[in-house]
Amino acid sequence: MAIVAPSILSADFCRLGEEIKEVEKAGADWIHIDVMDGHFVPNITIGPPVIASIRKATALPLDVHLMIENSDDFIHEFAKAGSDIITVHQEANIHLDRTIALIKSLGKKAGVSLNPSTGAETLRHVIKDVDLVLIMSVNPGFGGQSFIGYSLEKAREIRKMIAASGSKAKLEIDGGVGPDNCAEIVAAGVDALVAGSAIFKSDNYYEIIKKLKSA
Ligand code: DX5
Ligand code: ZN
Repeated sequence: MAIVAPSILSADFCRLGEEIKEVEKAGADWIHIDVMDGHFVPNITIGPPVIASIRKATALPLDVHLMIENSDDFIHEFAKAGSDIITVHQEANIHLDRTIALIKSLGKKAGVSLNPSTGAETLRHVIKDVDLVLIMSVNPGFGGQSFIGYSLEKAREIRKMIAASGSKAKLEIDGGVGPDNCAEIVAAGVDALVAGSAIFKSDNYYEIIKKLKSA
């Protein structure tokens, strides 16, 4: 069964607590939280105080996707707020090895995300140290974009890299994921599916999550 992580970016922010409880009841495995700073990506979302509130609304693991510059300055705050997985971007963290070590030193799972145009080989030397690889299958910044097809090739490549290195990392994909493409994504070796608009813009969270889980 695939791990399903609804991205709250497409939720109704006025009813965020209820929306999270609804996807939890509908079978979600993780809650995916997109943090954007207006620098690394052309959008601004939420920060640690909102995550601390979300922490009180659900027992599910919080899968926090940092699309921000200077992550090292903020990782303590995101850890304190109750994140379980903290994922940073390869492109925004030139001292990636140090950033991964920092996340793990705080007792959190460390993830690294790659933009669509970033090659899989950039992870080769750190793959054994990471708990999660997050492939961006859209250019990050917004929900509701179309899945970029070559992400499947990257998923297969990283799956092989994980197996060859003996890494325990899970492979997650984010952007343009829905019931129509989830089967080929899972077939490419992906463990965890992030879905924002496919879930929150539907009128039956349970049905969509069920389809994604059984991909
Ligand atoms: C995009 C975010 C995604 C986004 C996915 O930068 O990282 O998590 O919410 O949205 P959908 O599933 O609508 O493509
Ligand atoms: Zn995301």
